[in-house]
Amino acid sequence: MSEEMSRREFVGLCACVGLGAAAVGIAGCAPSTTGTSVETPSSSYGEESQMSKRVLVGYATRTGSTVGVAEAIARTLGERGFAADVRPLRGGPSLDGYDACVLGSAINGAAWLPEAMSWLESNAADLKKMPAAAFCVHSMNGEDDAKQTRKRLAYLDKVRGVISPVAEGFFLGKGPTAEDTSLIARWAFKAFGGTAEGDARDWDKIRVWAEQVQL
Ligand SMILES: Cc1cc2nc3c(=O)[nH]c(=O)nc-3n(C[C@H](O)[C@H](O)[C@H](O)COP(=O)(O)O)c2cc1C
Repeated sequence: MSEEMSRREFVGLCACVGLGAAAVGIAGCAPSTTGTSVETPSSSYGEESQMSKRVLVGYATRTGSTVGVAEAIARTLGERGFAADVRPLRGGPSLDGYDACVLGSAINGAAWLPEAMSWLESNAADLKKMPAAAFCVHSMNGEDDAKQTRKRLAYLDKVRGVISPVAEGFFLGKGPTAEDTSLIARWAFKAFGGTAEGDARDWDKIRVWAEQVQL
């Protein structure tokens, strides 16, 4: 088995475990990936003035947890005096009028979601003219040992092929819980490097990162 867990492996794992879970009447491990549409709201933080820098906080999500992370980052940027707009990258936001960007995505298959990558590639020329920070919301490889650190850093390899982020953030999102996932599924998830159990978003860590990011 390769060290990286591919999307196929992740889905295969969930499918296998889902089948097992169904056999004993327990819900599968990723109910929110079964077609339920997730909300992708926009919001704004901070005061817009001639003095304030405008920041686009763009995000991509599958099951919703990245939305709150993007909003928390923008809120902190607003408190720092930036005018920060949270926008889903799926909507193809324009960079017109922005001075800087903070861009983030849920991790699926050890990489950013496709819509985040395609927005990045389409806007590469403009992004190179402004500071751009990148973040990931993930549920595996959250430990600080060498192996998990290497795998976690690799989540941004494709992004680094397009831009040179001024800062990189890695935040745990939502992992399986005892309520929505069987014991076997949780065991398998941990065996593959799963770190987050339930909602593992660390709001202090996210705030501190957003307080320090240089834009
Ligand atoms: C199909 C699928 C593949 C995933 N692949 C990874 C992965 O390779 N590495 C990882 O750390 N987390 C992986 N995750 C976990 C998500 O990144 C995590 O649940 C995150 O919080 C999802 O963010 P979202 O709620 O904004 O979509 C995967 C989740 C799903 C459903």
